[in-house]
This record gives sequence, C-alpha cells and structure tokens, in this order.
Amino acid sequence: MVEARRRRSVSATFLLDLLAGQLRGLDPAGAPLDVVDLGGGTGGVATALAGHGHRVTVIDPSPDALASLERRTAEAGLEGRIVGRQGDAADLVDVVGERSVDVVVCHRVLEVVESPAEALTAVAAVLRPGGALSLLASQRRAAVLGHALAGHLGLARRAWADPRRFDHEGLVDLLAGAGFDVQASHGIGALADHVAEQVLEAEPGALADLTALEAEVSTDPAFRALAPQVHLFARVGLTTPAAVD
Ligand SMILES: C[S@@+](CC[C@H](N)C(=O)[O-])C[C@H]1O[C@@H](n2cnc3c(N)ncnc32)[C@H](O)[C@@H]1O
Repeated sequence: MVEARRRRSVSATFLLDLLAGQLRGLDPAGAPLDVVDLGGGTGGVATALAGHGHRVTVIDPSPDALASLERRTAEAGLEGRIVGRQGDAADLVDVVGERSVDVVVCHRVLEVVESPAEALTAVAAVLRPGGALSLLASQRRAAVLGHALAGHLGLARRAWADPRRFDHEGLVDLLAGAGFDVQASHGIGALADHVAEQVLEAEPGALADLTALEAEVSTDPAFRALAPQVHLFARVGLTTPAAVD
C-alpha cells in the first residue's frame, strides 16, 4: 500500500515539479503570478502553487470541494494566497474577468465540461496577453489499453469510439482553435503508473530510477501517446510564438 502510494506519487510529483518550472520560466525574477485553478477541486495543485508564492483562485462548482479546499488551505497556513469561488467553466469570464490572470490551471476538467472548445475560449479570454494554460487530460489510448488488458473488451471498444475522449493531437487542435500556442507537451504516468509495486520493494534505488525514467520518456512521442494523462503548456497572445512538436 505504501509502495502503491510511492509509485503513484512519482507521476504526481513529476507533474507538480514540471509545472512549477514552467511557471518560473514565465517570470524568471520569481514574481508571484495570479493563477486561476479551474475545477481545482480540493486544492492539491493550488496548495502546491501557493507554496511557491503564487496567488491562486480556485473556481469549482462543488461546495463540498470548496469546503475541503478551505480546510486544506488553513492546515497549510496558506490563507490569503488561496481563495475559493463557486463557479464553472461556463461562467469563468464573469467570475474572473477578462484579461485578468497570468495562468489558468485546467487539470482533469476538460473531460467533464459541456463544451471543451467553449471552455478553452473562456480560458483564453481571462488570460493576460502572453498568459499560460496548464492543461492536463486523460488520454483515449491509455484507457483503451487499460480496459483491453484487464479483459474488458467492450469497454475498450466504447472508449475507442467515445468522441469525448482526448488524445494529444486532438488537444493540440482544440488549443489552436482557441488561440493558444502549445509550448510543451509531456506524457504523465507513461511508466510510473504501470510499473509493478513489487519492483520498487525488491530493488534498492528503483524509486529513483523510476522517477528519472518517467521524466526522460515524457516527451517521447510514442510514450506520450500511451501515457494515461497528457500535460500541455500553452500560451496565448504571444508576439513570437514558439511551438514545440
Ligand atoms: C476530476 S476532478 C479534478 C480536480 C483537480 N483539478 C485535480 O486535478 O485534482 C474534476 C473537478 O471539476 C469540477 N467540475 C465539474 N464540472 C465542472 C465545470 N463545468 N466547470 C469547472 N469545473 C467543473 C468538479 O467539481 C471537480 O472538482
């Protein structure tokens, strides 16, 4: 059980470190950024970013999630740096205001909104020129593979045919349609979410090797395509866009 937590924490830690580094790249002087975490839930990402000094507003439709966020914020001593507000993707512009934030985090939310394209258009509208989106979404191919290997072939076929499932290529197109330039794409959990827990118990140094390997394969297009989740870092309103594969 402990090893399962350690194994899963490899991909979660990789994602948070990756995002923290990308945000440092936005302002190398390290000034605090105004961040909106859309569908931020109970605040796992928000507390990590606020811990780096950023000012985070979590927008979520769930009162229960916002109550948990408030408790978590207090426990972490981050009052004043995290604010929770009830809202959703459809009223993002009304709740936050146009061109008012530096970064929007949208992790595992595109899957639940009514219109992903409209949600991304709203995200672009609330960002200041040059602002960034951190997008995390579950991937279709990993879902198909997971169901098939577990023997659930009907579920695998349904996942393959489901137009609401995402893959990296489709997300890049959706982002371009909303006016974003994708600057970086990483697979999340391509190996860490599959390696057997016993491996981490049996081999000294295995956790360090898995942590390094997860980072090393994350931008390989084939591993990225099969990763359970994909993270895209995209900017809006850049005068000199710098697209990466
Ligand atoms: C799978 S959770 C992800 C939570 C968090 N972003 C994370 O990665 O841990 C999905 C979240 O989206 C919220 N949500 C549901 N419908 C939404 C909508 N239309 N707009 C914004 N958030 C929504 C849910 O309340 C929930 O907190």
